[in-house]
Amino acid sequence: MNGTIVVTGAARGIGRAIAEKMASTGPLTVIGVDIAPELALSESIIPVQVDLTSIEGPGLIRKAVEASGSPLLGLVNNAGITRDARLINLTEEDFAAVLEINLGAAYRLTTELAPLMSDGGSIVNIASRAYLGNFGQFNYSMSKGGVVGMTRAMALSLAPHVRVNAVAPGLISSEMSMAIPEDIREKMVDSIPLDRMGTPDEIANTVWWLLTPLSSYITGEVIVVGGGRSLS
Ligand SMILES: NC(=O)c1ccc[n+]([C@@H]2O[C@H](COP(=O)([O-])OP(=O)(O)OC[C@H]3O[C@@H](n4cnc5c(N)ncnc54)[C@H](O)[C@@H]3O)[C@@H](O)[C@H]2O)c1
Repeated sequence: MNGTIVVTGAARGIGRAIAEKMASTGPLTVIGVDIAPELALSESIIPVQVDLTSIEGPGLIRKAVEASGSPLLGLVNNAGITRDARLINLTEEDFAAVLEINLGAAYRLTTELAPLMSDGGSIVNIASRAYLGNFGQFNYSMSKGGVVGMTRAMALSLAPHVRVNAVAPGLISSEMSMAIPEDIREKMVDSIPLDRMGTPDEIANTVWWLLTPLSSYITGEVIVVGGGRSLS
């Protein structure tokens, strides 16, 4: 593979693991996007500091892709947030904020970059196993269900030129999951057949595979990487 890959939410956690994995696997230009002021990524990764929900965000990323001078092979819509609440406690602000970054920003960036994507390109949207419905995560589950629907509709819209798939992680060790109270996190781990949290690298490996021609006949699918947590 020779070309450019854009990864959002690349400053830490799962996005960082994906960006570093892609940068280490061949002659690729990797653009790492994040709102965080410090993007401490490998030197080979081009950092773009931007708020994905801002009006100018998608255009700035498009300019970075054009400046890279190589064809756009892949886009990973990974940036996301949680503002957990049960349905009855949810504020309008937290409802809108989660939908805006988890779903709206991914939609807008894909719209901006899809015309630049080369034939055989691949888009991976990071959903969550929570799309099946998680207690206390009403807005988050709703946004990730939207990501799954969007992935399927995008796959139809962009075929046969570009493939679009989603990865739905289970409980993965990152700052996001560390924000879950410890007693709840332990109960969640107890319900995982593989008996542990996943690592960002385990998500990056699956995303890498979906970005390469090794998965060339797969589009519109959701791959759950969750240690079997949805089995019972
Ligand atoms: N950690 C888990 O257990 C888990 C499980 C399922 C799904 N996910 C999903 O995986 C993705 C990554 O999760 P993570 O655990 O690495 O989270 P994280 O909080 O560690 O990292 C998210 C990154 O997104 C960036 N970001 C947030 N808002 C942004 C904005 N407006 N513009 C640009 N960048 C922004 C943050 O700065 C951060 O670097 C998210 O979409 C999340 O919903 C995580």
